[in-house]
Amino acid sequence: MTFTFKNLSADRDDLRVDVLTGLAASPKSIPPKYFYDEAGCRLFEAICAQPEYVLCRTEQALMRSRLPDIAAAIGAVDCIVEPGAGDCVKVRRLLDALHPGQLVVMDIAGAPLAAAAEPLSRDYPDLAVTALGMDFLHDLEAAAPHLPAGRRLIYYPGSSIGNFPPDAATALLARFRRLAGADGQLLIGFDLKKDPQRLHAAYNDAAGVTAAFNLNLLVRLNRELGADFDPARFSHYAFYNPVAGRIEMHLVSLAEQDVSVAGERFHFALGETLHTEHSYKFRCDEFSTMARNAGWQWSAEWTQDGFAVQLYR
Ligand SMILES: C[S@@+](CC[C@H](N)C(=O)[O-])C[C@H]1O[C@@H](n2cnc3c(N)ncnc32)[C@H](O)[C@@H]1O
Repeated sequence: MTFTFKNLSADRDDLRVDVLTGLAASPKSIPPKYFYDEAGCRLFEAICAQPEYVLCRTEQALMRSRLPDIAAAIGAVDCIVEPGAGDCVKVRRLLDALHPGQLVVMDIAGAPLAAAAEPLSRDYPDLAVTALGMDFLHDLEAAAPHLPAGRRLIYYPGSSIGNFPPDAATALLARFRRLAGADGQLLIGFDLKKDPQRLHAAYNDAAGVTAAFNLNLLVRLNRELGADFDPARFSHYAFYNPVAGRIEMHLVSLAEQDVSVAGERFHFALGETLHTEHSYKFRCDEFSTMARNAGWQWSAEWTQDGFAVQLYR
C-alpha cells in the first residue's frame, strides 16, 4: 500500500562524539551500534549464514514451528513496531500470521533499512509501511508521532537485547513499554545460556566473518572520521565470560601504536583492547525478572535449541 521513509537522525554528530569519548576512556570502547554501516549490515547477514552462528536459524525455526501458537497468544494487533529491524526478513512471518494494517521499522542504518522495507509495501498491498532511520537509544520517543493509535506489538528479535548490560536492558524494555501504550505487547527473542564452547564457536566462525565484521568498525572510522587505523595491527578477540554471562568482543592491539581519529591522537599499548560488543545470554527466569522490572507482564514463552521467544503484555 504505502511506503514512507523518514531519516530522524540526519543532522546528528553522535559517531564522532561517542568514538572520541570511548577512545579516551579506560578501557577503550565503542558502542556496538556503530558496527552497522552498509558493509557492516552485509557482514551481519553473512554472519547469520555461518554454520557456527546458529542463533538466527534457530530463532527462525522456532518462529516457523510455533507460529500458530504465537499468533494465537498475541491475538489481534493493529501495528507492529520493530526497533533495529535490519534486513526486515523476520517480521514477514508475523505479517503473514497477524495481518496488521501498519508496520513501523526503525534502524540506525537508514539507507539499508529503506532498501529492505520498501519491498514489504509491494508484497503486502494492505500494509502501510513506515521506515524510520534513527538511533532508538538516543530518541526512541521520536518514533511515537509516527505510530498509529490501536493495539501495538513491539517485536525485538535476534537477541539484540543482549547487547545491553542488565540495567540498560531494563531501561530500554521500559521505554518499549511506554511506546507500546496501554494495550501494547512485546514479542522478544533472546539467546539462552548454554555450553560455553558452542557460544565461543558462534563468535569465532572458521571463515572469519565475525572477525571481518568487528574489524570493519576500524575501516568505517577511517572513512567517516578521517582515522588512520591499520586493521592488520588489531586482532578480533571474542570469548564467553561465564561469570558475567556474556560474550565479550574486543579488538586487541597487536603493537604499541598511536592512532589519529578526527584530529585527535590515541595511544594503544601492546595488547590493549578496544571493547566493541557485549552479547549477554540469559535463562528464561532471569529475562522475565528483568522484563517485570521494566513494567511488563509475562504472557507466554517458547524455547527451542537454546533460544527463547517470550511474549509480554
Ligand atoms: C544484530 S542486528 C539484528 C537485525 C534484525 N533485527 C534481526 O534480528 O535479524 C541489529 C540491528 O539493529 C540496528 N541497531 C543497533 N543499534 C541500534 C540503535 N541504537 N538504533 C537503531 N538501530 C540500531 C543495527 O543497525 C542492526 O540492523
